[in-house]
Amino acid sequence: MSSIYETDALIADDIEAYLDQHQHKSLLRFITCGSVDDGKSTLIGRLLYDSKMIFEDQLAALEADSKRIGTQGQDIDFALLVDGLSAEREQGITIDVAYRFFTTEKRKFIVADTPGHEQYTRNMVTGASTADLAVILIDARKGVLVQTRRHSYLAHLLGIRNIVLAVNKMDLVDYDAARFDEIVTDYQKFADSIGVKNFTAIPISGFKGDNIASLSASTPWYDGVTLIDHLETVELDVHADQAKPFRLPVQWVNRPNLDFRGFAGQIAGGAVHVGAPVRILPSGKTSHIGRIVTLDGDLDVAVAGQSVTLCLTDEVDCSRGDVIATAEDPPEVADQFEANIVWLSEGAMVPGRSYWMKLGTQSVSATVQPPKYQVNVNNMEHLAAKTLDLNAIGVAEITTDRPVIFEAYADNRTLGGFILIDKMTNATVAAGMLNFSLRRAQNVHWQAIDISREAHAQQKGQSPKLLWFTGLSGSGKSTIANLVEKKLFALGRHSFLLDGDNVRHGLNKDLGFTDTDRIENIRRVGEVAKLMTDAGLIVLTAFISPFRAERDMVRALMPAGDFIEVFVDTPLAEAEKRDVKGLYKKARSGALKNFTGIDSPYERPDAPEIHIDTTRMSPEQAAEAIVERVIGVWSYDL
Ligand code: ADX
Repeated sequence: MSSIYETDALIADDIEAYLDQHQHKSLLRFITCGSVDDGKSTLIGRLLYDSKMIFEDQLAALEADSKRIGTQGQDIDFALLVDGLSAEREQGITIDVAYRFFTTEKRKFIVADTPGHEQYTRNMVTGASTADLAVILIDARKGVLVQTRRHSYLAHLLGIRNIVLAVNKMDLVDYDAARFDEIVTDYQKFADSIGVKNFTAIPISGFKGDNIASLSASTPWYDGVTLIDHLETVELDVHADQAKPFRLPVQWVNRPNLDFRGFAGQIAGGAVHVGAPVRILPSGKTSHIGRIVTLDGDLDVAVAGQSVTLCLTDEVDCSRGDVIATAEDPPEVADQFEANIVWLSEGAMVPGRSYWMKLGTQSVSATVQPPKYQVNVNNMEHLAAKTLDLNAIGVAEITTDRPVIFEAYADNRTLGGFILIDKMTNATVAAGMLNFSLRRAQNVHWQAIDISREAHAQQKGQSPKLLWFTGLSGSGKSTIANLVEKKLFALGRHSFLLDGDNVRHGLNKDLGFTDTDRIENIRRVGEVAKLMTDAGLIVLTAFISPFRAERDMVRALMPAGDFIEVFVDTPLAEAEKRDVKGLYKKARSGALKNFTGIDSPYERPDAPEIHIDTTRMSPEQAAEAIVERVIGVWSYDL
């Protein structure tokens, strides 16, 4: 590296030349992780001291420069996570990732300093999600600790391919080569177990400066490079990304006038040239690159990391969230995945609930199944789990409401990394990494498929049912059905409630309360409910439905097991006592004819699937019991 003095001289001599050189330097983002007192702050201080520190107010300019010249391919990765978390910071939720900036003659650096404790997992995830490299600090006296393992696992999970094992405080173990080797061997075993292919071990002393900027005379047995040398020369992800197949997630459509239509975004993989054949996903339409437009003029070729606007040779449909990819090797489109999930919220994951999922520029609704397992990040054990709590990491299946264009996170951080957002609070609750798809979406090339009852249900990720509430007027059918629907809704189920009083104002307003009219009332409602279940919904009906025959008629319309009769059992005397609508009084006085229970019969169900005795349970308890029964039956057949 050059000394700080040479750089200063250059600045003094020729500010233009300095800025030019500065702008064209590549940028390495890395994180440092370690336990509380293994010397992280000292090391960072040393790096800043031994190089040229860039002060925070220069950050904006530096970031802008590097965006312009496109050295930040990794920037878009999880940009949303970082955005999401910064938004939370604005809302007053503490997130503590300190970013520091420094530069040497060869490279610019952004180092994310994340606290080590488990409760700071989300900070580490944030820092690691955009990093090319992780420096794992080890105190030479202590060796590989639980935290070393956790940090390495997280760094690996978040796609960091360059791991530096900085064995620090070598001065305190008398620069003992044997101790260094012992720690490296120990770490190697662990690295193998989590799939870390290689790492670079460097014996250092942050305090004394050994092997940081210059090779130390105290470690003659060490034949590697210094830490700064390594940081200056390690291959950037952005370079590796350029060798991958071409992908541009479309951020926005640039259409300033009728003559220009371009698709803007940051290239998330590979390279593209004018004339290249491309495929637009998810539509599957093909075209060719007409122009590659940037703020600095047109390009012939653009590569991963660059922000560009692509014009196509044909008028094809393409909008935000679509991906323009090389026609030869387009990414997969699917709606069911296996993913690694890091839970970042105080509120535990709710399997079955629907969250917003943001993946690159795509935004969809997604539900997470109960985890296959949780990983004990301290010893890598797989634990059985029903949910994931704050800072927990697990593997689970995710279903999206529409197909997502994706790649495995290991292949492409932008198209494989996602965040989950709570729909009510808008908080970022999880970060995730897609491993592979479980079901390929059928519609990449718009095959003509019949949209069957099963297809409708599958799209909603549920099994349709008809919950048929029956009971006297005033028994509590509507009240309980309403509560049940609210609970189903909160669990992310798609439902609809058909209620007697409402349906009689519209569809069935021509019907009264004679036996014939009641029979027709139930027949129509039964048919409508059946159609709604064909559309994939969980349907709830609240009608007196006094006759067994018509209830059984509806039951027969439905596939076996999908009709669930819920008898809301309130004795006549009790319903009459409540008389919520004052109708019993009217009926008793003779002002209302054919009133159920008074001068019109009610036939109790013989064997209802669910029997609710309202004299023993509150509506809330009844609703809970019904949902539990219903979810108990359905939760695993989604
Ligand atoms: S059903 O017998 O055909 O199933 P439905 O549930 O649609 O009846 O309508 C019942 C509601 O209509 C009652 O809750 C009550 O508010 C109102 N209603 C008005 N007249 C009568 C009546 N004669 N018998 C029962 N309910 C009536």
